[in-house]
Formats: sequence, structure tokens, C-alpha cells
Amino acid sequence: MQVHLTIISYLFCIILTIFINFVIQFSMNEQFIAVLDSGIGGISVLKELVKVFPNESFLYFGDNNNAPYGNKSKERLLSITIRNIDIIKKYPIKALVLACNTLSVNLISDIKDYSGVETFGIFPPVEKCVINKEKTLLLATKRTSENYRNTPLLEVVGLLDLVCKIEDNIFDLEKVDFVRSLKESSCGQFIDVKGYYNTIILGCTHYNFIKIKISDHFQPQKIIDGTTFLIFNLKKYLKNKKSIEKTKRFSVFFIGDNAKENQYFFEKSGQVGQN
Ligand code: DGL
Repeated sequence: MQVHLTIISYLFCIILTIFINFVIQFSMNEQFIAVLDSGIGGISVLKELVKVFPNESFLYFGDNNNAPYGNKSKERLLSITIRNIDIIKKYPIKALVLACNTLSVNLISDIKDYSGVETFGIFPPVEKCVINKEKTLLLATKRTSENYRNTPLLEVVGLLDLVCKIEDNIFDLEKVDFVRSLKESSCGQFIDVKGYYNTIILGCTHYNFIKIKISDHFQPQKIIDGTTFLIFNLKKYLKNKKSIEKTKRFSVFFIGDNAKENQYFFEKSGQVGQN
């Protein structure tokens, strides 16, 4: 019985993959905007992209098997990303969006060189807060946090296990214990007092899905992330290239080993920041 079920699910996966490839081939004349992240985090960015560019076609690659990226060395991340870009480049793409702060902050120039298409990254928007001298806390993965350690007027915390907790509970994000991660699995100094920080910067796209938990804990005046600036840059590029689609309805294709789960999460998860 067990063997039969395994064979059936195996066959089902093969048929589904063939079907997805068929659909993608069918629309091969489309020029996709590819979106890449280590897992579901980039779906928070994708959700904003489809709102701003309602007529574009998107290709989402969530590399959930290799998550978390934030605890890996730059060398390892680069070799993973090169392999992933090789997969993405099998499709006709007009731009690549790194919906991942860890890749953007650490590897943007290597990835730009390799991708061969216009590549956009997402970065924690620290400059504005620093200039305005706001009390600001940056929450990010360990790898990203290391890049901001010496930024004046900025407190930085690297969270070691939060992305794993989010990935492990993608269909029940209520279960993610943010406060526990903060207390037991974080590096960096911060003031743990409600209302102390004016601004919290979310330096990892996964955290967008637990924004309410973070807000409840710190009670800042505002919580920001790099999506707005990424969209601003992408819009400028597409406009200059006269490449903004005007007539179609948006479509999103999911590729990679976890395509099915990511598509389901994209469809079922509500607006970003509801959890
Ligand atoms: N969501 C990604 C980021 O923005 C990657 C997190 C991870 O895999 O550690 O940093």
C-alpha cells in the first residue's frame, strides 16, 4: 500500500512538472521578470510586484531546499546562486529580481555579472533613518547583519533561526515564536523595551510575513523594508526600456523543487504583514 502511494505521488509529481513546463513553453514568447529567494520570503515581494505591474509575467524561484541562506558563507551562496541562475536562464527573462536581502547585500555585483540581464536587489533602507537620526533597529539574517555592524546610529540584530522557523511553519505562521528567536537565537545588542525604537527595519524578506508579531513586540512608530525602493528601481528600468506590459493580465509561474508549495502559499497567504 505504502509503495503504491509512493509510486502514485511520484507519478503525480512527474505529470505536474511536465504540465508546468508545457504551460511555460506555451507562453515562451513571454518575457518574464524572474524573482529569486531562498524560499517563501520573496513571495512578500512578489505580492507587491504583481500589484504594481499587473500586466507582467513573473517566474518565481524559491530555493526552499537550501534555506536558510543567512547562515551560509558567501562562497557557498555564490555557488548555489549560479546554479539557480542557470535554471532561471532556461526561460526568456527580461529582468532578475533578487527578493532576498542576503543575496543582494553580499553578492549583488557577482550576480549581476553572471546573470547577463538587468538585476535588481533588495536592501535594508538604513540611510534615511540614519540621516534623520531616528532610533533604529535593523533585524536581519546573520550574514546580512554583519555588513551593517559598524553603521553609526544603527543597532543591528542577526537572527539565527527565524527563517527556519518561518519555513517550517509556512501554512501556520501563528506558530512562529518571534520573541523566543529574539531571546535565544540572536546576535547583537538591542534595547528590549516597547516603544524605544522609532523605526524597525526588516532586513530579510521572510520577516514580512510576521510583521505584526514584530510590531507587537517592539511597538515602533514604523516598520519598513526595502521593497519600495526595489520597485522604484525596477519601474524606472522598465519605463526607460519601454518594456512595461500594458495589455495582458499578470501571470506567475513557479519553478524549482518547491514550486507547488510556493504557489499554494502565494495563493493562500493573505496580504503581507497579516501574521
Ligand atoms: N529572505 C532572504 C533574505 O531576505 C533569505 C533568508 C535566508 O534564507 O536566510 O535575506
